[in-house]
Amino acid sequence: MKPEREQWSSKIGFILATAGSAVGLGNIWKFPYLVGENGGAAFIILYLICVVLVGLPIVIAEILIGRTAQKNPVGSFRELSKSNPFWIGIGLLGVITGFIILSYYNVIAGWSIGYVVESIKGTFENIDNPKAGGDLFISLSSSSFWSVGFHFLFMVFTVYIVYFGVTKGIEKAGKILMPTLLILIILLVIRGVTLEGAQKGINYLIQADFSVITTKTVLLALGQAFFSLSLGMGALLTYGSYMSKKENIPSSAISIVGLDTFVAILAGFMIFPALFALGMQPDQGPALIYNILPIMFNYIPGGYIFRIFFFLLLSMAALTSTISLMEVITSFVVDELKTKREITVIILGLIVFSIGVPSALSSGVLKDFTIFGLTYFDLFDFIAANIFLPLGGIFIALFTGWFWSIKKALPSLLEGADDFNPTLIKTWIFLIKFVAPVMVLIILLSSLGVL
Ligand code: PFF
Repeated sequence: MKPEREQWSSKIGFILATAGSAVGLGNIWKFPYLVGENGGAAFIILYLICVVLVGLPIVIAEILIGRTAQKNPVGSFRELSKSNPFWIGIGLLGVITGFIILSYYNVIAGWSIGYVVESIKGTFENIDNPKAGGDLFISLSSSSFWSVGFHFLFMVFTVYIVYFGVTKGIEKAGKILMPTLLILIILLVIRGVTLEGAQKGINYLIQADFSVITTKTVLLALGQAFFSLSLGMGALLTYGSYMSKKENIPSSAISIVGLDTFVAILAGFMIFPALFALGMQPDQGPALIYNILPIMFNYIPGGYIFRIFFFLLLSMAALTSTISLMEVITSFVVDELKTKREITVIILGLIVFSIGVPSALSSGVLKDFTIFGLTYFDLFDFIAANIFLPLGGIFIALFTGWFWSIKKALPSLLEGADDFNPTLIKTWIFLIKFVAPVMVLIILLSSLGVL
């Protein structure tokens, strides 16, 4: 007899776990610095357009494929394509992408836990300028012991949760971590916007200046929407495979995308008003979170505790994302090789940890070791996030709209959603067949330098 596949115990459990996958370092680390470097409110508006026109339709498609087949990415494509090797390959590409992303994403996630520990120890207390903050970051992240040690610790947390399975591990973690994360972010937003001089930062986030928008900005916004929604590698597909056929996919997808976008925008309101209030510049690039922010808290009343809150928040956001990456590869091995989840996740954790070690050393001893001019870390990030994710996204859209076909996809989508607004469903069909594949192809070609 086939063992029962686990299912989410409630709709809210599914939404929180999936929003947990989406809300991550992308929202709290990357989105604010992209906003800061690309014109504030104008970038936010552009981002919202990309989320609605490309992100949401593919979120629905990915969850739908998983829920229909009730299998991991490879198993799902195999089943729905009637064992067509090309589509099985697309499922496999998703699993491999998850593997690669987890290996380096976990390194940055490790830094966030490292920063919680350093904040508690008071390491940042007497540092009074961003340059010294940057030097401190370099000395921490280039220490092999610090960087690899926290990479390991974060992998232990991830493995620990996935070990317990879908309801007792992932769903429970989402139900605890996501509300805590929302409370922390709201507290930090209130702290930021009530500082004297915060208004300038608020204006920066609400007054759009479109003159700064270029084609490159549009591509950045689209790429960010993709990464932030965990699209294109089977994470949403895998989470969808644990969803009951009674649930409404479009309405759940809207909640997930809405939460992800809400948290990204809140992250902007958490950071910029405080930054402007202290007379610091918004266009600091990736250095913003780890170099500038720890120092910024020194000038804020209650800064010691708010700094701990901030890095805790970052760690929790990252953890709900690493869990989803781990679940993709775990479900693949468990389904395909019929292994036991518990032992599988421990072995996979050790393998992914080992593959991530060179990434953890990329800021230190392996700094000068480059392949095609990129460090190990940057190379992995480029291949996975700029090439494999968009590629996966294009094929998920093409599969749903053309190969598996709308004729078969639609009845499956309407299970649990037969009362959903027909105009919205028609719009989804148009977006998934035409708009999404073309737009994602453009991001892919541009990141390959073809455009
Ligand atoms: N969405 C996550 C973030 O914004 O940080 C990153 C991510 C998680 C991408 C899980 C892909 C994924 F499967």
